Amino acid sequence: MTNRAILVTGASKGIGAAVIRHLAKENRAPGIAMVARQSDYYDDFVREMRTQHQSVAFTPFFADLGREEDVTALLDGIRKSKIEIFGLINNAGYTNPKSINQIETNDFEYTLRTNLVSPFRLVQFLVKEFAHKLQFVLNVSSTAGISGRAGWLTYSASKAAMINMSEVMREELKVYGTRVICISPGRCATDLRRTLAPDEDPNTIMQPEEVAAVVDTLISGVGRMIDSHNIVVRR
Ligand SMILES: NC(=O)c1ccc[n+]([C@@H]2O[C@H](COP(=O)([O-])OP(=O)(O)OC[C@H]3O[C@@H](n4cnc5c(N)ncnc54)[C@H](OP(=O)(O)O)[C@@H]3O)[C@@H](O)[C@H]2O)c1
Repeated sequence: MTNRAILVTGASKGIGAAVIRHLAKENRAPGIAMVARQSDYYDDFVREMRTQHQSVAFTPFFADLGREEDVTALLDGIRKSKIEIFGLINNAGYTNPKSINQIETNDFEYTLRTNLVSPFRLVQFLVKEFAHKLQFVLNVSSTAGISGRAGWLTYSASKAAMINMSEVMREELKVYGTRVICISPGRCATDLRRTLAPDEDPNTIMQPEEVAAVVDTLISGVGRMIDSHNIVVRR
């Protein structure tokens, strides 16, 4: 395999897109493999990246991470692409804030599949597929996973589980030489944040580019010297 890439989920916008922009600009990888659902803005972003960074191979994959069959097809697609994934940034995240009385079980399960089970499936697949070649996994949790807020039950629960899942992964994947990093951003100006806090002025909070710069440091050589136990990222 000659194609080596970092795989970033939630690649179409927000923090994921900012991370991809940053990694491409700094030439951190010969390839960047990306995952999001099909959309015009995802297509536009891929086009923009290909135009601006012609030395980087961008490979978009399309999947709804809340759908088991999509994830199975995604893993198959990654295998068939023959791209060697040497780093995973599990960034995709979904939320649909509701009070306890309004939560639908289906939506709770969809949240858990998107934010927790699919990130797990990706890690399990990449470890089996690439073993010692997988250098790092960076899981994006949230400060909402550290302390819950009214109306955020499904999201908070998924993010709390992400923090603990990362602990286990960190222990178990040491043997492969895979670093497992977990970050918990605070308020960051993206669509997801707008869903959680519609009245907030996005100019007053952390920007996706700031999180991207932290991610870049954490996956770098310098990042090896930072204790990667659930790192809170906030202004
Ligand atoms: N913004 C904050 O304040 C904040 C704070 C703490 C943690 N986080 C975490 O940061 C991560 C990135 O979120 P963001 O703030 O950048 O939000 P965003 O701008 O809404 O982006 C979310 C990304 O996840 C993807 N995604 C969502 N549901 C998906 C699904 N079912 N299947 C595939 N892809 C899906 C979206 O792609 P589509 O185009 O397919 O929708 C999009 O690329 C999330 O894990 C979030 O929980 C955010």
